[in-house]
Amino acid sequence: RLVLLDIAAEAVQRELEAFRPEVVFHQAAQASVPVSLQRPGHDARVNIIGTIRLLEMCLAAGVRKVIYASSAAVYGTPCYLPIDENHPVYPLSPYGISKLAAEMYLSVFRKHWGLDFTVLRYANVYGPRQDALGEGGVVAVFADRIRRCEQLTVFGDGEQTRDFIHVHDVARANLAAFSSAGGQVLNVSTGRATSVNQLVTMFKRLTRRVPSVTFAAARPGDIRHSYLDNSKARSELNWAPQYDLETGLAQTLRAIGLLTGDKH
Ligand SMILES: NC(=O)c1ccc[n+]([C@@H]2O[C@H](COP(=O)([O-])OP(=O)(O)OC[C@H]3O[C@@H](n4cnc5c(N)ncnc54)[C@H](O)[C@@H]3O)[C@@H](O)[C@H]2O)c1
Repeated sequence: RLVLLDIAAEAVQRELEAFRPEVVFHQAAQASVPVSLQRPGHDARVNIIGTIRLLEMCLAAGVRKVIYASSAAVYGTPCYLPIDENHPVYPLSPYGISKLAAEMYLSVFRKHWGLDFTVLRYANVYGPRQDALGEGGVVAVFADRIRRCEQLTVFGDGEQTRDFIHVHDVARANLAAFSSAGGQVLNVSTGRATSVNQLVTMFKRLTRRVPSVTFAAARPGDIRHSYLDNSKARSELNWAPQYDLETGLAQTLRAIGLLTGDKH
């Protein structure tokens, strides 16, 4: 049953009390770094106050555990790679701060009121049905542009790297956390770095199209290299990513009709 409500609305309480969930998967967020820089108050209202209200309502409804979608944005500029969960946290944006603040509230709610949690810090998530508009991830944006026969814009020299994790692997990590890793903070990632240029090459190979690529100025504040150690999630959740990037991209492209056949 789908009920569309603001995360902080009183009506959420009624829904929770009627449904009595054992576990809540908390994915709702103001999820854009640029929007958080334009509207930090809005970001904090949704991500911090919204999370606090949700936790209060979960307690009242007897929820056992909250599984929280956090982000690599909490780490800020990497001091070392791959980033593990012991890496210092120093967020560079209001979004990173709000995700970290929500993590800290989860910890306090567990300590004082016994509401269990698992925090999952996602790397760069991609997959079918990702929104290419607004702040869509680079995979969704490139796929959409190729579909429209438009040129691709790469910010900087394209040698910056990210850790691209398929949404199905993220969903499986959430399900695994249902009954394990209480009170834990875990990276959900592939542990592999892929440059934007490598991504463009994969797109060309898979789609057999040669989109024109332009290079624009690097975006201020963009992190040069980022990939996350996932060994803790592997052991705590008995989980491992199943998609390599090429397979995941092929499946994502097939979903929007950019690839036919079952070759990939
Ligand atoms: N996509 C990524 O690469 C990535 C990486 C790290 C963490 N995350 C986290 O994963 C979660 C999902 O992100 P996404 O990429 O699917 O973003 P998204 O923007 O597509 O999804 C966020 C959802 O939250 C909902 N939402 C926004 N404000 C709300 C409010 N006030 N009340 C109720 N719902 C509200 C939106 O309607 C949307 O459905 C977020 O918590 C995000 O911070 C995403």
